[in-house]
Amino acid sequence: MLDLRRRTIVNEKDFDKVRIAPATQADRPSIYRMRHDVYAAELGQHAAQPNAMLSDALDESNTYITARIRGELAGFISITPPGIGRYSVEKYLRRGELPIRLDERTYEIRILTVSRAHRHSRVAWYLMYAAFRWVEDHGGEQIIAMGRADILEMYRSFGAKPLGRRIVSGAVTFELMRTSVSHLRRYSIRHQSTIESLSKHVDWAMDFPFLKTPCCFHGGSFFEAIGCRFETLNRREVIVNADVLDAWYPPSPRVLATMQEHLPWLIRTSPPTHCEGLRDAIAVHRGVRQENILPGAGSSDLIYRALRHWLHRDSRVLILDPTYGEYPHVLEKVIGCGVERLTLSRHDGYKVHLDELAWRIEQGYDLVILVNPNNPTGRHIRRAELENLLSAVGPETKVWIDEAYIDYVGSTESLEHFAVESENVIICKSMSKVYALSGMRVAYLCASPHQLSDLISLTPPWVVGLPAQVAAVCALEDTAYYEEQYKRTHLFRAEMREAMLAMGIDEIVPGEANFLMFHLDECQPHAEEVIERTREAGVFMRDLASMGSNMDSRALRIAIKDPSGNERILRALQECLLPIEVQR
Ligand SMILES: Cc1ncc(COP(=O)(O)O)c(C=O)c1O
Repeated sequence: MLDLRRRTIVNEKDFDKVRIAPATQADRPSIYRMRHDVYAAELGQHAAQPNAMLSDALDESNTYITARIRGELAGFISITPPGIGRYSVEKYLRRGELPIRLDERTYEIRILTVSRAHRHSRVAWYLMYAAFRWVEDHGGEQIIAMGRADILEMYRSFGAKPLGRRIVSGAVTFELMRTSVSHLRRYSIRHQSTIESLSKHVDWAMDFPFLKTPCCFHGGSFFEAIGCRFETLNRREVIVNADVLDAWYPPSPRVLATMQEHLPWLIRTSPPTHCEGLRDAIAVHRGVRQENILPGAGSSDLIYRALRHWLHRDSRVLILDPTYGEYPHVLEKVIGCGVERLTLSRHDGYKVHLDELAWRIEQGYDLVILVNPNNPTGRHIRRAELENLLSAVGPETKVWIDEAYIDYVGSTESLEHFAVESENVIICKSMSKVYALSGMRVAYLCASPHQLSDLISLTPPWVVGLPAQVAAVCALEDTAYYEEQYKRTHLFRAEMREAMLAMGIDEIVPGEANFLMFHLDECQPHAEEVIERTREAGVFMRDLASMGSNMDSRALRIAIKDPSGNERILRALQECLLPIEVQR
């Protein structure tokens, strides 16, 4: 999309707010007059009309959006929805000739028009953005447009790519373009702060918000390749979803055998109401008591349940930066409390310095959140050092330790035993990543019972599904299988690291979990471009721009996969990078 950072305000009128609103019937004559001024009088696409107005048969079923400055029409854009059975492009090309499939989620954006006086302002950007948001709000996915050859850059900046079909109409040439709402979504997340600042200069009168209701961005865009409604699940075999940190290995054979044998019954049966058996199994395997365990449907469920219960707008929380994005999201966007960050430095590989952490904690917080090993860095703080530090933290400060990846380092590194003896330490333990159960949604909190009692009463019955409860219990019983997978993960990670170094990627963070974070050199493409290019090869990686407040635009993270997946990641990366001799 448009590089908004480099865009200068050329037009004085930019200082007036642009009002973006759905066009009313009363707006139509002025729209058709401006359309005539531009497409007949100025560009010669159409013959001049005696009434000096231009309109066509699609207009009846099109939605128009207008931009007004000080009440004057400054521009407009039009959208053709899928339901009416034809698009404007079909005036020039037959549907069968188009190089894409037009489906019930395809919308056409047309006639982006800006009056002469406002050509070099942000009016066109606001109109285009409004049209995209409109399509998104109406459940659209694919967007097609006939982009005028002289303003293709504007379409390109919104991620539209030419489809190789040129259309000549009168004296005007158009390119058939395509983009998608998911592309817009990724762009919006990456440039969230710029878009937020643009929202201040617009008087937004659309009946949906300027910014989509915020939610935290995660990996998982590979589902677009599979089909968001799971149409082509077999495609999972041809993609490499290294943008999420799921295990590369299957769940334990015990889990699979039990699922295969009992699946129809497990699916149709109500689970134990309060996960009694699961709590018991976790307690036994972790060497704690049942009262120390509170299960949840994934740690995301527990994060939302606990943090929203404990914190309010006046609370103060300390988090690492960068860290797992759901934490700043819940704290800042959902709860709205005060968040302070312990900035980890790129220059020492995002190591957490314990003296600095101890000093920051002393400043007095309601909650401190540590992800250990941290995501996206993979850096781990040793148990002994952390216990030493936490022993000095007063009971008024809760300390939440997210150990989603701890078993990769070693289960003896967990602070579960320390937590159950403490007043204020709570361990959040996902069973997704280390037990290969991400799709099941199982996690638990481990803490002293007084930390959990309120949360128990807030837990809905049957919070974890029966297949998930049974799978988790079976997984806990097969320690030997998982220990073997962790060893292989370390081996594969070391091999990946070597191969990346050989490729000229020198800045790889020394992580200890099932993923690697790295920075590309300045001469290499930005992460955004790498992501777009590798996804064409079916390889999905994570751009880290949104995972830290100061993340460099060439920071990426990949999950470790099995050898053939890793090979594909390396090949896809290699294709994007300049050869070593050019780099140096
Ligand atoms: C640090 C961390 N915590 C929690 C989660 C979410 O885990 P779950 O699948 O249990 O919701 C993730 C997922 O990426 C994570 O990285």
